[in-house]
Amino acid sequence: MGADDNAQHTAVIGLQWGDEGKGKVVDRLASHHDTIVRYNGGANAGHTIVVDGQRYAMHLIPSGILTPDKMCVIGNGVVVDPVTLLEEMDTLRERGVKAENLRLSSRAHVVMPWHQALDHALEQQLAGRSTDSSLGTTGRGIGPCYADKVTRSTAVRFVDLLDRAALRTKLSVTCDMQNARLSAMAWDGEPFDPITIADEYAGHGERLAPHITDTTYLLHDQIAAGKRLLFEGANACLLDVDHGTYPYVTSSNCSALGIPAGTGLPGRTVDHVIGVVKAYSTRVGAGPFPTELDDQIGNRLRERGHEYGTTTGRPRRCGWLDLVAVRYSAMISGATSLAVMLFDVLAGFDELKICTAYEIDGTRTDRFLPDATLLSRVMPVYETLPGFETEIDSVTRRDDLPADARAYLARIEEITGLPIELVSVGPDRVQTCVG
Ligand code: GDP
Ligand code: IMO
Ligand code: MG
Repeated sequence: MGADDNAQHTAVIGLQWGDEGKGKVVDRLASHHDTIVRYNGGANAGHTIVVDGQRYAMHLIPSGILTPDKMCVIGNGVVVDPVTLLEEMDTLRERGVKAENLRLSSRAHVVMPWHQALDHALEQQLAGRSTDSSLGTTGRGIGPCYADKVTRSTAVRFVDLLDRAALRTKLSVTCDMQNARLSAMAWDGEPFDPITIADEYAGHGERLAPHITDTTYLLHDQIAAGKRLLFEGANACLLDVDHGTYPYVTSSNCSALGIPAGTGLPGRTVDHVIGVVKAYSTRVGAGPFPTELDDQIGNRLRERGHEYGTTTGRPRRCGWLDLVAVRYSAMISGATSLAVMLFDVLAGFDELKICTAYEIDGTRTDRFLPDATLLSRVMPVYETLPGFETEIDSVTRRDDLPADARAYLARIEEITGLPIELVSVGPDRVQTCVG
């Protein structure tokens, strides 16, 4: 489709704070690729795909699974809750989608039940303080699991689930430590029993064993065999643990920078990076958001865009498109083109605003400020464009969009310096304009 036709390996990366519509873009591109790869995050992701009016919400399985015969890989950089994964596989099977071609890295880390408990306990403790510094996490245990990965001694990987006796031994130590951490955080649940948990998780390992493999060699073999890979970013650049609005971020490298470490492939592998951008901005959870609209326009964006989280159901914060942020994300991810999503949501507004710069302490800048404290102090500088009246959700060619809608897209291209290769005008697979 369009600009990626000559590219061998493509990445689909969210350039805002998540929920840009990455799932839909991956689904659209899957038929042009052989293997779809997740490299970061976990079940904090919620990627929605709508095919023939049927809605699918993917949390761990790559969105390519809905395209028959594609290989789907969960790389070593993903933290995987096996309970969620097995449920997702079962739900898909009930709906006629087979997950036989799913491969899971033996080196991926396992989200254990104490990770979710620690996630909730920490957030509760922070929210209970006089200055609430909770992050508004998804509660999926992502941060605590990545923390254990780096700690090493208390971590569990999928390879560990394949040996019940060794798992029992490992958990006899790990479980004690996690119970101690939880009780220090005034957690009111029952302590975890190592034998019970070891047996339960060894059972998950048995079910997942046909899928567990060394995905690093698998992906290198695929490339050697001339297969085309499609990388599915989870979360988004501004939530990247190193480059996002820290500390209001997730715990992985969700920009394209996470691909090499999260798969075992060299940095030069990807030659086409599609930056996925909502036509306006949203954010769920805490943290600075310069173009946030706490007014009727924000409410209208939320209602028209059904801006409620795929994973947690929380209402998303809404605001105008922030191209200072998008340019920064495109820069760190090496975006080569853009996909503009949920464009239909903007129909019917008298005027549309695009943030092109920030003002801070009387100085204007077109550079993003990933420091959360600084970013919370910036004032957005807007450019105002005319809105478009007509609904566009059945338009299939960019040329057939109203003139003011085309002008909005052209301005995005001018300011970012990137071509828009796909415009999405509705949730369904077919509600897409290319070219
Ligand atoms: P992801 O996490 O980046 O995959 O995005 P989500 O699935 O969390 O959120 C995007 C939401 O917008 C989902 O409910 C999609 O079905 C929906 N969506 C995707 N593209 C469009 C579009 O062009 N128009 C509208 N109205 N909804 C869209
Ligand atoms: P997709 O892939 C939107 C946000 C959470 C919270 C912060 C940390 O669907 O775009 P975590 O549970 O990861 O420790 O939460 O990050 N967050 C997302 N927001 N979309 C996502 O994923 C997100 N993944 C994490 O809301 O603010
Ligand atoms: Mg989402």
